[in-house]
Amino acid sequence: MSLSISLTINGDARTIVLEDPRVTLLDLLRERLQLTGTKKGCDRGQCGACTVLVDGRRINSCLTLAMTVDGAHVTTIEGLATGDELHPVQAAFLECDGLQCGYCTPGQIMSAVGLIAEGQAVGDPERVRELMSGNICRCGAYKGITEAVLAAME
Ligand code: FES
Repeated sequence: MSLSISLTINGDARTIVLEDPRVTLLDLLRERLQLTGTKKGCDRGQCGACTVLVDGRRINSCLTLAMTVDGAHVTTIEGLATGDELHPVQAAFLECDGLQCGYCTPGQIMSAVGLIAEGQAVGDPERVRELMSGNICRCGAYKGITEAVLAAME
């Protein structure tokens, strides 16, 4: 059974036929649409590497069936920069060394963008850590990540 969904991905309206209704948003992004900036870590909702924004809210795309985002606006890491100009959160991660190996970084940045849009935790490192706790960094670059999120809030 196939079904068709319509969604806007990084500003582009798309109609996509899903051959398998069980496909996740993560696999749709990476395997069908070649948007490989969104990473697959655990594939079970534990690491946050797959974080994207759906209608402005942070979600784990590995836990989200693609069919459930029919009609939504999806933003991935590829949709943040404007031409050669980095999004302020991307620039803050570079400025503050908010990464080491970089694998978790797209998810960290998308989570930070969502967190800032939620308007929470301004100037509070402990609260930022709590609100970013769904995004694991195996390298332990949390100090720089937290500093980057706080810098991007200013
Ligand atoms: Fe989705 Fe780990 S890949 S939370």
